[in-house]
Amino acid sequence: MITIKRILLLAGISILILSLVPMIGCMEQDPDGPARQEPANNLTDGTVHDLPDPIRDSEFTLEEAFRQRRSVREYTDEYVSLSCLSQILWATQGISDAQRGFRTVPSAGALYPLNVRVISSRVEDLPVGVYLYDPESHRLILIDDEDRTQEVYEAALSQNPVKQAAFNIIIAADYDITATRYGGRAERYVHLEAGHAGQNLSLQAVACGLATVPIGAFDDDRLGELSGLSEDETPLYLFPVGHPAE
Ligand SMILES: Cc1cc2nc3c(=O)[nH]c(=O)nc-3n(C[C@H](O)[C@H](O)[C@H](O)COP(=O)(O)O)c2cc1C
Repeated sequence: MITIKRILLLAGISILILSLVPMIGCMEQDPDGPARQEPANNLTDGTVHDLPDPIRDSEFTLEEAFRQRRSVREYTDEYVSLSCLSQILWATQGISDAQRGFRTVPSAGALYPLNVRVISSRVEDLPVGVYLYDPESHRLILIDDEDRTQEVYEAALSQNPVKQAAFNIIIAADYDITATRYGGRAERYVHLEAGHAGQNLSLQAVACGLATVPIGAFDDDRLGELSGLSEDETPLYLFPVGHPAE
């Protein structure tokens, strides 16, 4: 009897473990480290621009940023400092734990499927052009030296803030990076991550005395073309940034 009981107990435990395996696969695991991604369009030979080190201990409070954040759609024609652009890029997708390569925004499995492009128009000490942000080196890689602001404005259904902005930021994603581990849940995870990144960007803009508006209405193909996205990437979010007019 004891033997039969033991066999039944062992069989029960085995069934329980087997039934948990798929669930464990779907749960967030603490990975050994993030999968490092090459920039999606692999244009690492482009001209590289160093960015100032981001400030990590300003006195601007998080509550103040929550309170002040508003979608602002009119900007002045002032230039924005390179340090503010640097700060915003770091908040959007920068490295906050250099040892493990973890970033300022969470990412399912630390796989980091998002890429950030900048369409620069009026940034001090940065020529106009389209740039890819490289989080690891905290640098900008030039991918197009034309000012594409007017074309991006047209791709964004002629929304005025895009044309007025000192720079526009495009958050794009490669769903396959997340799908390799999370299958059908990848789309959900990637969209959640874009939201995290967008909120960081918006709050950091406020803390820099700047303003933005999240833009989801645009022609995907045209915006992708203008910002040098690879075939694997989809543009998800556009953020014009500038000094608020009011
Ligand atoms: C996913 C998403 C897409 C949006 N797309 C646009 C857009 O294309 N154009 C625009 O002017 N505002 C857009 N907005 C901004 C909303 O209109 C704005 O957040 C809303 O009016 C609330 O105002 P607040 O951001 O000042 O709180 C978008 C917001 C979100 C979250």
